[in-house]
Amino acid sequence: MGERVTRIMYIFITIALVNEMSTVQARDNNKRRSKEKAGGFQKNICDITDRDSKVHCYCENAREPRNATKAECWVFNGGIPSDDYIWQSFASQPTLQTLSFNVRVDGALGYVPTKALQYLQRLRSINIKYGNIIDVRTFAFANLTYLKEVTLSQNQIEIIQQYAFAHLPNLTMINLEDNMIVEIGLDSFFDLPKLQKLTFTKNNISRIKDGSFQHTFNLLELDLNKNNIQHLNRHTFDGLANLRKLDLRRNHIYNLTEFTFAELWNLQELLLGKNDLKYISERAFDGLSQLRKLSLDDNKLAALPSGLFEGVRGLSSLDLRSNELRALTYDNIKPILDNLKPPSSNLLLEENSFVCDCRLKWMHTLRDETKSQSTKESLESVTCKIDPPIVSSAYNNMDDTDSKLDFNKEILHAGITIETIDKNNITDKKTTAEDISKEHVNDIIIPSAKKGVKRTVLKIPPETLPCPIEKRTMTELIPYMIDPVIPIQNEMKTFRFQEMNTSSRVHSMATIVAWSICIAFSFT
Ligand SMILES: *[C@@H]1O[C@H](CO)[C@@H](O)[C@H](O)[C@H]1NC(C)=O
Ligand SMILES: *[C@@H]1O[C@H](CO)[C@@H](O)[C@H](O)[C@H]1NC(C)=O
Ligand SMILES: *[C@@H]1O[C@H](CO)[C@@H](O)[C@H](O)[C@H]1NC(C)=O
Ligand SMILES: *[C@@H]1O[C@H](CO)[C@@H](O)[C@H](O)[C@H]1NC(C)=O
Ligand SMILES: *[C@@H]1O[C@H](CO)[C@@H](O)[C@H](O)[C@H]1NC(C)=O
Ligand SMILES: *[C@@H]1O[C@H](CO)[C@@H](O)[C@H](O)[C@H]1NC(C)=O
Ligand SMILES: *[C@@H]1O[C@H](CO)[C@@H](O)[C@H](O)[C@H]1NC(C)=O
Repeated sequence: MGERVTRIMYIFITIALVNEMSTVQARDNNKRRSKEKAGGFQKNICDITDRDSKVHCYCENAREPRNATKAECWVFNGGIPSDDYIWQSFASQPTLQTLSFNVRVDGALGYVPTKALQYLQRLRSINIKYGNIIDVRTFAFANLTYLKEVTLSQNQIEIIQQYAFAHLPNLTMINLEDNMIVEIGLDSFFDLPKLQKLTFTKNNISRIKDGSFQHTFNLLELDLNKNNIQHLNRHTFDGLANLRKLDLRRNHIYNLTEFTFAELWNLQELLLGKNDLKYISERAFDGLSQLRKLSLDDNKLAALPSGLFEGVRGLSSLDLRSNELRALTYDNIKPILDNLKPPSSNLLLEENSFVCDCRLKWMHTLRDETKSQSTKESLESVTCKIDPPIVSSAYNNMDDTDSKLDFNKEILHAGITIETIDKNNITDKKTTAEDISKEHVNDIIIPSAKKGVKRTVLKIPPETLPCPIEKRTMTELIPYMIDPVIPIQNEMKTFRFQEMNTSSRVHSMATIVAWSICIAFSFT
């Protein structure tokens, strides 16, 4: 018993002594430090007491020299020369693994402090925030073999020099978000065998030199969201054979040419939303055999080439919202239609300019067959417009606009009963049109023919959707030609609404309408 008490007492006394010794030592250190020059060499970068120092670091694990693993440094004063002694002071903590610089004063740190990094052979992560780094120079990271992550977000980087990121065998992630980079040049990223993620979000990149990514062949994710890119070509992404995700949202791409992504054999996700896309080559997505997800939302697409999805037969998530699509044909969607049926699949089509015609019929079938809730919901809110048909040259010659409109209405409502036509006086066009648009046929409200009236596609019975005349070539047609076309006089004899041939009544109806049109022409 007594022996144990003595032992405990002994321990207490030892602790008290050690404490006393270290405070004495600290006082001595302070005296010495005050003699050191501001911004100059520091014995221990983790223990700077000099209030004039331009850099102050707070370290985890140890304030002892040679033992800290994590340091957070604040840069208060500007104008530190890149070869200032303060950077050499980092040699006092060679085991640092994580280092970050928070720049507190505008313009206080205008370069990557390579002179400090070169001593930190164990460094795994470096983060410089809010600096004013304009360019990242050649070998800025001093060939550090352990370096895994570099974050230089929110600086003012415009230029990444050749070999800026080079010979870094363990580097997996580079984040350059929110800078002012204008160009990605050749060999800026060189010998980075483990690089997996490269982020350029929110820069001003308008040029990517062909082959810029040749030496980053293990890259999995490339983020170019929110830049100024207008052109891509088939060599832009050379070398990225392992890329899984490519984010090109919020750029100004307007023309996607053939084989742009041909090198990206493993790409699974391609995001092209919020660009200015108007033209897509039929072979733009060729080579993307692994692609699962494609977003093309918020663009200016009015039509898609019919074979566009032939090269991406694995696609199961497609976002086409907020475009100007006037049609999306069965031919367009056929290569991927089966992929759109499992619960996790996704087809989003809202906010387009679809024309109500039979080319939208497949939407009914897909709605019934898909197990994806989001696809069902999207399909159910897709709308289409009953557009006044495009005029033929004969029609253009009619100068009375009122009669033009009514003329269209008669064409559009030609599916109603013979009695209706008989009852209404063709020459008294205004009342005719109004009467017709109130007619009910088979409990279906005939769509109002007012220009641009939107209807929910799935609420229109598929068999009542009219088909454009030129069925043979319709999928290749550019949008202005796929409107329901009003036949000119000499086409009248063959004029007929396809898909409406089930009853002879419809046949005779069409004849009557054609005949009425002739009358209308003769009145002008
Ligand atoms: C350094 O830290 C380790 C633990 O991380 C500790 O065991 C060692 O004693 C420390 N060395 C010095 C000199 O403080
Ligand atoms: C990095 O390695 C390259 C090639 O081995 C060499 O030319 C360059 O001087 C090295 N840079 C530094 C800072 O060590
Ligand atoms: C990469 O880092 C690990 C430690 O994380 C190290 O063992 C390895 O040697 C490094 N690789 C190279 C090529 O230096
Ligand atoms: C972006 O780059 C273009 C030149 O490509 C330049 O005209 C424009 O001013 C830059 N924008 C910003 C915000 O720096
Ligand atoms: C799109 O790019 C291709 C290839 O550069 C070119 O031939 C075509 O004319 C372009 N289309 C438009 C509409 O600019
Ligand atoms: C149609 O109306 C015109 C005048 O508006 C009239 O002269 C003509 O007899 C009418 N025809 C029929 C078939 O009701
Ligand atoms: C007319 O309808 C029949 C079935 O009722 C169909 O077999 C035929 O192909 C249709 N003709 C046209 C020109 O659509």
